Amino acid sequence: MSGIENLLREDLRGVTPYGAPQFDVPVRLNTNENSYPVPPEVVEEITRAVAAVAADLNRYPDREFTDLRAALAAYLTDTSRDHDVTVTPEQVWAGNGSNEVLQHLVLAFGGPDRTALGFTPAYSMHPIISGSAGTTWVDGLRGQGGEPFDLTLESAVAQVREHQPHLVFLCSPNNPTGTALGLDVVEAVYAAAERAIVVVDEAYAEFARRGTPSALTLLEGRPRLVVTRTMSKAFAFAGGRLGYLAADPALVDALRLVRLPYHLSAPTQSIALAALRHAASLLGTVEVIKEQRDRIVGQLTVLGLEPVPSDANFVLFGGLSDSAQTWRDLLDRGVLVRDVGIPHYLRVTAGTPAETDAFLAAMAEIAPKAIAPKAIAPATDRSGL
Ligand SMILES: Cc1ncc(COP(=O)(O)O)c(C=O)c1O
Repeated sequence: MSGIENLLREDLRGVTPYGAPQFDVPVRLNTNENSYPVPPEVVEEITRAVAAVAADLNRYPDREFTDLRAALAAYLTDTSRDHDVTVTPEQVWAGNGSNEVLQHLVLAFGGPDRTALGFTPAYSMHPIISGSAGTTWVDGLRGQGGEPFDLTLESAVAQVREHQPHLVFLCSPNNPTGTALGLDVVEAVYAAAERAIVVVDEAYAEFARRGTPSALTLLEGRPRLVVTRTMSKAFAFAGGRLGYLAADPALVDALRLVRLPYHLSAPTQSIALAALRHAASLLGTVEVIKEQRDRIVGQLTVLGLEPVPSDANFVLFGGLSDSAQTWRDLLDRGVLVRDVGIPHYLRVTAGTPAETDAFLAAMAEIAPKAIAPKAIAPATDRSGL
């Protein structure tokens, strides 16, 4: 040991850094990216956008990212039109990925002597970000009275009352399980968590099944409610690193206390604006991805596996005798999926039709040995594999 370990904060000693494998394999379905490359016309616009700011890189960027906030507010207002939501630029905040936005929230409202509550399994960065700011994480439970991964209103409220957190993380659609949360649960949690900032992480909102309203519809009159979003998923912009949130302007204002100066670079602001100008084109793949997701759910069921219904661009599936072995068997066939640490389950991203074909073909091949004995069901229909 170099001695550094002894100098490290005690709570970080022996901790493994977060990170999904980045293997160079033909079919990468492990981090819920959008598999479609950025379309050529958007590539051109992004190139122009970078060129336009290049000469001014001697100056710091607009620390208030004014144009970007206006564009994000317009995007949220526009895409929520069915539900009559208006989001103003003052309600919007952004960061280098929604992870940074989540970190700003924890830095401002968490910290030593404060607690954050989430409902496991959910997005694993919620506890990590909370912990890195010294916030005590409370691992709440799902599946108390509903389906295995459901979060019922009664259970969520009871856990909030028990722990009296300063921050509550809800994730809808939930990663890794895929299902969206009813707004009645969000409303009840908000009412019960009287002193908490309630964060609804909607990273996958654009993939939700029809009729699934966003928690944006609940913002009015709820000054402690926050909805986080990202351009990393539906927008096919994970490499651009742009996440954002909508909340009450006073809450947004508080985040200025913890952000680093000029945290959004001029190229980041410029390319995100270019992408937002092409929102329709970038989001054009959402429907085909949803089709692949539903196809995965259908075909895995036929194979005798147990997929969880999904509102996201991924599917969690169970019924495996040894999920680590199945993960390796898929990798041997050139398909990388995610072992999220839930015994007998794996998570697969819905990619292009060709990637879905490759995943389903590999699963069909290994299913006879992968499926836990009690879960074996007759495979009657293999069309579309
Ligand atoms: C639920 C959820 N929230 C937030 C993120 C962070 O995404 P990004 O930092 O790329 O915006 C992810 C990424 O996988 C996610 O699954």
